[in-house]
Amino acid sequence: MRTVAKRVLVTGGAGFLGSHLCERLLARGDDVLCVDNYFTGRKDNIAHLLHQPNFEPMRHDITFPLYVEVDEIYNLACPASPIHYQFDPVQTTKTSVIGAINMLGLAKRVKAKILQASTSEVYGDPIVHPQDESYRGNVNPIGPRACYDEGKRCAETLFFDYHRQHKVKIRVVRIFNTYGPRMHPNDGRVVSNFIVQALKNEPITLYGDGSQTRAFCYVDDLIDGFVRMMDASDETVGPINLGNPVETSVAELAKIIIDLTGSRSTITYRPLPVDDPVQRCPDISQAESVLGWQPRMPLRTGLQRTIAYFETLLREHGAIPAPKTAAA
Ligand SMILES: NC(=O)c1ccc[n+]([C@@H]2O[C@H](COP(=O)([O-])OP(=O)(O)OC[C@H]3O[C@@H](n4cnc5c(N)ncnc54)[C@H](O)[C@@H]3O)[C@@H](O)[C@H]2O)c1
Repeated sequence: MRTVAKRVLVTGGAGFLGSHLCERLLARGDDVLCVDNYFTGRKDNIAHLLHQPNFEPMRHDITFPLYVEVDEIYNLACPASPIHYQFDPVQTTKTSVIGAINMLGLAKRVKAKILQASTSEVYGDPIVHPQDESYRGNVNPIGPRACYDEGKRCAETLFFDYHRQHKVKIRVVRIFNTYGPRMHPNDGRVVSNFIVQALKNEPITLYGDGSQTRAFCYVDDLIDGFVRMMDASDETVGPINLGNPVETSVAELAKIIIDLTGSRSTITYRPLPVDDPVQRCPDISQAESVLGWQPRMPLRTGLQRTIAYFETLLREHGAIPAPKTAAA
């Protein structure tokens, strides 16, 4: 007897994480509907999947209702980097909040499982290190990052209320810094910034004194965590942190990237942006015990793969495509 493929909706499927997720789901035989409004996503990210009969791209903005029949939903749609989510902060909040309502309504109607890509930003600028899931955060509700942080916090609230009130089968993961091929070259995030600057032999910009730490998770490891979470029992609702608990200072990261690229870049220092967290590091004990998950990719290997991707981009485009910013 032929087994019927699972129908899986990935919102934000043409983005950095979404495109890797679509790839992974297709590889295991799922039928994938990739929904995206291409605000930060790129058709190039999914071009290699278009020939697959189980893959269907659809241009749609999740702030509007969507009527499709699916078994599982991964809700990833939302600009993720400060440059992008601050470009149109009202739309960012709408995407998180109205988007969550629309996707949860869909999950309720078709009885689909739904996973929310939440974020470590729900912890704000944390005063507890490392952050476990019980930490309630230190978020400025009126600052420039609030459209993202508070939008994601409200989305989590909605997920848990739909679960309690309507018995929707939810999963919530809180993602920490993730990097890898198909990151946006110009999104102002530290890994992409440093790699592009190093490849162009331009000065590497360090914000603050570079002692602030980040914990970098390679994209393949993260996607593995997503799939494990979706496949876990329905009692496993989360929230569960997914990220790499190994901290690296931003200055150390710059040194590794200069070394791996053989760059002639020097380092320049700039003031820290408003509300930029000084330290952020996940406690992943829950992911380890409940999902049997932990990141495996060594930082240097992951960075080598990411550098190779950016080298190709630079070669193909001659220059890195411009970002969507207010100035652009
Ligand atoms: N990459 C990370 O380190 C990280 C960390 C924490 C959380 N996350 C979360 O993971 C998700 C994916 O992040 P990413 O890094 O792939 O970012 P991304 O910007 O590459 O992907 C987001 C995708 O959502 C699409 N999108 C935005 N608004 C939409 C809307 N209203 N309707 C339909 N599509 C829309 C964009 O076009 C893009 O393709 C986001 O929800 C983000 O908040 C990512």
